[in-house]
Amino acid sequence: MLLLTFISFHCFILAPIGVDASSKLYIVYMGEKKHKDPNHETASHHNILTSLLGSKEEALNSIVYSYKHGFSGFAAMLTDSQAEELAELPEVITVKPNRIYRAHTTRSWDFLGLDYNQPTGLLQKAKYGEDVVIGVVDSCVWPESKSFDDSGYGPIPSRWRGKCEEGEAFGANNCSRKIIGARYYTGGVSQADLKGDFMSPRDFGNHGTHTASTAAGGLIYNASFHNLATGNARGGAPRARLAIYKACWGRRIACGGAALLAAIDDAINDGVDILSLSLGGPEEIPGTLHAVAKGITVVFSAGNDGPAPQTIKNSVPWVITVAASTIDRSFPTVITLGSNQRLVGQSIFYEIQQNSNFTGLVDGYSCDADSLNGTNISGEIVLCYAPDLAASTLPRQSLPSAVSNVISAGGGGLIFAQYTVNILENLYQCQGIPCVLVDFEIANKIANYMSTTSNPVVKVSPTSNVIGMEVLAPKIAAFSSRGPSVAFPGVLKPDVAAPGVSILAARRNSYFFDSGTSMACPHVSAVAALLKSLHPDWSPAAIKSAIVTTASVRDGYGIPIEAEGTSRKLADPFDFGGGHINPNRAADPGLVYDIDPKD
Ligand SMILES: *[C@@H]1O[C@H](CO)[C@@H](O)[C@H](O)[C@H]1NC(C)=O
Ligand SMILES: *[C@@H]1O[C@H](CO)[C@@H](O)[C@H](O)[C@H]1NC(C)=O
Ligand SMILES: *[C@@H]1O[C@H](CO)[C@@H](O)[C@H](O)[C@H]1NC(C)=O
Ligand SMILES: *[C@@H]1O[C@H](CO)[C@@H](O)[C@H](O)[C@H]1NC(C)=O
Ligand SMILES: *[C@@H]1O[C@H](CO)[C@@H](O)[C@H](O)[C@H]1NC(C)=O
Repeated sequence: MLLLTFISFHCFILAPIGVDASSKLYIVYMGEKKHKDPNHETASHHNILTSLLGSKEEALNSIVYSYKHGFSGFAAMLTDSQAEELAELPEVITVKPNRIYRAHTTRSWDFLGLDYNQPTGLLQKAKYGEDVVIGVVDSCVWPESKSFDDSGYGPIPSRWRGKCEEGEAFGANNCSRKIIGARYYTGGVSQADLKGDFMSPRDFGNHGTHTASTAAGGLIYNASFHNLATGNARGGAPRARLAIYKACWGRRIACGGAALLAAIDDAINDGVDILSLSLGGPEEIPGTLHAVAKGITVVFSAGNDGPAPQTIKNSVPWVITVAASTIDRSFPTVITLGSNQRLVGQSIFYEIQQNSNFTGLVDGYSCDADSLNGTNISGEIVLCYAPDLAASTLPRQSLPSAVSNVISAGGGGLIFAQYTVNILENLYQCQGIPCVLVDFEIANKIANYMSTTSNPVVKVSPTSNVIGMEVLAPKIAAFSSRGPSVAFPGVLKPDVAAPGVSILAARRNSYFFDSGTSMACPHVSAVAALLKSLHPDWSPAAIKSAIVTTASVRDGYGIPIEAEGTSRKLADPFDFGGGHINPNRAADPGLVYDIDPKD
């Protein structure tokens, strides 16, 4: 049945026969199911469309998805006036146009105290999450990654009702005792985003493989990104089962609203225990209350639009909304000036030789196209230091453009100054040239050196990495979206913070760093899975309560956790909700605030 829906949908995109050219995709939401049998539910959707459009054939041409498992509704190609007419029907709750939503290792789990070998910890007590099914709605997975190896797993839980859809470069054997379900949905996704992607559950954009392996990747010894951050890579619930739903497509990781809703509807029916959604968009994603009412814990990323207030996404009260924090790892990179002065910046830079020579150093000011114009930077290292512009540009925007400007002007590398050195989120975009982040104090020392010599030179050494107490952490990442929620000012959001900066996880057949609340979300999904395994009778509200009320507001030294931003400050609940997640404490919270779906 579902497959037929897909086929008819593809027909539409290619040749919208019988559908008015001015029609667009609308999502019609009808609340609770009226019929026990999903086929009856679908038939009622066809009937509504038939009376609206005049014939059964037009109805079948128009409908893209029928939502019939967790809740009732449908997605269909409609003109604006048809949409208005539908909205008048008493059984229809809302009619909204399809919107596009966007996708927002190793060390982080030890940092959270989930030591793999600690016999009394949550991880062991929860049997590494083996009985739990985590549903990940994203760009899906790369099934060949070692993180998804199913060796040694017991049979698939008998309550599982999901399926494994085949497609381009994705066969039935790509599902396993680890990846127990895989489906894909194209509804509401643009042709441009579908183009070039695999028409199957195979991951193209690399986002879903990263998030799924962060939540439930198996233990992989000696993973690293070019020997940086070497260690054992694993998910937080390393033996949990994964059910993957592809609703996000292309390089932009664009998620169709209609596709997301279909994925959530199926996930409810398939029997997932946890739903992990590292994405967000212009509006709240519907359907999640039905999932929570069925006992599924729903976890969302908060968004990457911080540090400005009122930027939080996904703030309905029944989900867990996750902010991103830094972990106790840094990537110090030594910069040696021609004066032999040695300074330390941060970088993820592995391409250079240990014994590389000094290179000329030039001043690039803001390193925008104008400020580099007129200077020959060919092969030189450029200092990008414009403190007077810091208030008006966020490093996460100005750094990538500085990198591409320096590269296109033939520069050999850059030293980029910003008001905080903890934002490593963009460093993997250095495109193969040295790019080192420094704070204004270090940049000022470099500028002073440049003013004292007519031929300034510099040498950048390969990055090393440091973990442990000498790195002050956690801090709330600057990019992490902040409350209060514009849509629901009365609901305190985000709920909790979790690691989301420079997280090493799977990408195709290797491992790489990524940062964002997208990386923080699967950390909480994994902890929710472990709690569900340890306390199978806990409701989503109880799991959320345990996680939020036991979170820490202080770091390992007992110092209050700070929030990065244009000025660093003590984190408050609009930055990190209840605080930074503390999984072992959440296993035994003492008290939980349980809430009934009716509340
Ligand atoms: C996944 O399926 C594709 C296509 O059938 C196949 O080539 C590939 O080897 C499979 N990978 C795994 C891990 O089974
Ligand atoms: C880990 O990998 C590195 C290279 O990536 C290799 O030199 C080293 O021997 C490996 N160690 C183990 C224990 O496998
Ligand atoms: C390194 O640079 C110094 C001065 O810029 C120069 O004298 C020397 O020959 C260079 N060495 C190599 C190996 O290029
Ligand atoms: C560089 O400056 C010159 C002269 O001001 C101008 O003609 C040229 O278009 C500029 N180039 C870029 C890439 O901005
Ligand atoms: C820029 O400098 C490089 C080496 O320093 C030199 O080879 C090149 O000719 C210079 N280009 C211009 C336009 O001066």
